[in-house]
Amino acid sequence: MSKEVRRAAEILRAGGLVAFPTETVYGLGADASSEKAMARLYAVKGRPADHPVIVHFTSAKQAFEWASEVPDAAKRLAERFWPGPLTLILKRSKQAGDFVTGGQPSVGLRVPSHPVARQLLKEFGRPIAAPSANRFGRVSPTTAAHVREDLGADVDLVLEGGSSEIGIESTIVDLSSGVPVVLRPGKISSAELGMKSGASSVRHSGGMERHYAPKTPARLVPTHELDREISQLKARAAVLAFSRPDERVDFWLRMPRDPAAYAQKLYAALRELDGAKCDAILIEAPPAESGWEAVLDRLRKATA
Ligand code: TXA
Ligand code: MG
Repeated sequence: MSKEVRRAAEILRAGGLVAFPTETVYGLGADASSEKAMARLYAVKGRPADHPVIVHFTSAKQAFEWASEVPDAAKRLAERFWPGPLTLILKRSKQAGDFVTGGQPSVGLRVPSHPVARQLLKEFGRPIAAPSANRFGRVSPTTAAHVREDLGADVDLVLEGGSSEIGIESTIVDLSSGVPVVLRPGKISSAELGMKSGASSVRHSGGMERHYAPKTPARLVPTHELDREISQLKARAAVLAFSRPDERVDFWLRMPRDPAAYAQKLYAALRELDGAKCDAILIEAPPAESGWEAVLDRLRKATA
């Protein structure tokens, strides 16, 4: 156990905020049992009080104490995917206060696999509420530097854990009412889960139209229209594409053709495109093939 992790746990115990790495993106953590700590988390994040946050645990056993009902499907998914990039929405038990659920009858539970996240959870000994460590509506951080850029002195400590391996947020499955639904696709796909993607009746920030968005207006462009779009550019543009740079374009970032590798680089790329200070961002649409569901979901939100 490193000294940094011990310090982080002390900060959490004192009601402070600690950003920490997970395998998906960096989270902004607070003591999920403390109303005061949660109020500070919501204020820094800029998230509306009636939106829920995900609670992180060391084990399925600990996580399920926060649920009033654990359907067999939840046990099976936990067995198969935890620790890992999956969040389960279940009916909440009395452990889960209104200040983590946004006053809703369900709660989001996740057991992350990143070793630093696991060390922190173990050292703190209690569940940690953690939305992605960005301000509300902005691109999620995949490095400690991204967190510092976004949150600055508003976060008491940022634990270093390198670049997030997956790069996009966890898959969210809602098991709190009737038919299981994927609320947010991630590395674990709806196909792999054998479930439909669907909308939630619940208020959740990831479900909002414009989310995960760069500041520069961004558009999704099909491959066969990219050349024409570029030839018609009137302003300085930054392009995110699969092919080699086009000399007519001011700033060009090339992305891998593999969806997992693409996801890993996506948020850092969006930040870089934003940083290029262009007037527009063009993003080449990924191929209409399976495996791109989660990336496409984030690109749609970034360009909505
Ligand atoms: O990968 C992840 O899930 C990251 C890392 C840090 O674990 N966390 C993350 O949290 O993405 P956040 O808060 O940025 O996004 C969680 C999404 C939000 O859209 C939130 O509203 C939704 O999950 N959510 C949380 N609890 C929910 C609930 N009870 N019902 C429906 N949606 C819920
Ligand atoms: Mg988020």
